[in-house]
Amino acid sequence: MKILGIETSCDETAAAVVEDGRRILSSVIHTQVDLHRPYGGVVPEVASRAHVEQIQAVVDRAMSDAGVTWSDLDALAVTYGPGLATSLIVGLSFARGVALDTGLPLYLVNHLEAHLYSPFLAPDAPSLDTALPFVALVVSGGHTLLVRVAAVGSYQIIGESLDDAAGEAFDKGAKLLGLSFPGGPAIDHAAEGGDPNAIRFPRGTGRGSDAVGIKYLFSYSGLKTALRYHLRDYPDALGDPSSIANLAASYQEAIVDSLLQHVRSAVGRGGRLAVGGGVSLNRRLRQRLQEWAGREDVSLFLSPPPLCADNAGMVAGLAFHEAGRLGGAAAELADVEPGLRLDSKEESWAKITV
Ligand code: KG4
Ligand code: ZN
Repeated sequence: MKILGIETSCDETAAAVVEDGRRILSSVIHTQVDLHRPYGGVVPEVASRAHVEQIQAVVDRAMSDAGVTWSDLDALAVTYGPGLATSLIVGLSFARGVALDTGLPLYLVNHLEAHLYSPFLAPDAPSLDTALPFVALVVSGGHTLLVRVAAVGSYQIIGESLDDAAGEAFDKGAKLLGLSFPGGPAIDHAAEGGDPNAIRFPRGTGRGSDAVGIKYLFSYSGLKTALRYHLRDYPDALGDPSSIANLAASYQEAIVDSLLQHVRSAVGRGGRLAVGGGVSLNRRLRQRLQEWAGREDVSLFLSPPPLCADNAGMVAGLAFHEAGRLGGAAAELADVEPGLRLDSKEESWAKITV
């Protein structure tokens, strides 16, 4: 089964063709990062305009790279949330147009769910069925989630952030350090050769309530404030490359430590953990997870680097596992869901099919 996936939830215009939920025949990502850099963040209006300009070329390229025509495809898939409404709507409208034109069924995909399954698109990963059940860590620019995954579509959120997401913490920290946008890769790079123990920044973790089911809480606003105060007290640090390296490494360590702390409790010895989302590109996070998994006999499924940040391979890959749950006429009536949660899909689907 060959599926064309389309992803436009934020600032990447992406399309991919994936066979049987596993084999990536093509994956094209047009990043808008240069357009947003002068503003130090993603500007929704700029993003949606760029999606409109790029989407046709990106889809054409994904089709030609995969060597397929419309008649070779079995279905279409598109991200319908969460994300920026004005960005999501470009992908959904385009996909709906193609569905009407070709008669192919259109599957709607939750962006967070796609990140969650991206590790299983790695050529050496086990099949999804044999890996279930597992705990997933989804770390991106908008979310920090720990999730118990019993089956495709069955999610229990056991950890989340009270304020900023881990990726946001990287982005805001980089801004304070005078590093370029996006901040995650900039801090990852600036931390090279720095001492992660040079400055002890606060670890943003707390215990939630068992009654509401969210046991593991993250919080990054205090970390950002601690960096701001540090720079106020030591203003010369920004002029010195070795101080910047130490600050970047220490700040990064605080985020990685907080993630590891809850992951360790949630997964336990001999457990299974899948990790996806843009922050899972972070080299220190990957290294610390791998060391811990080796020590604790944990089966670790890390998203392969090309599938960590936003891409359409994960959208088409997930749709294969969901095929049949929603398509055709229902998708024609669907709207974008900018605030979609990982555990709110059934609810929003019910709304669509009424
Ligand atoms: O998953 P993603 O591409 O988009 C969202 O769904 O949000 O994640 C983007 C986030 C940004 O905050 C970016 O700074 C972060 O991922 N990121 C990283 C790295 N590469 C991207 N964070 C830490 N280290 C990296 N190497
Ligand atoms: Zn994402």
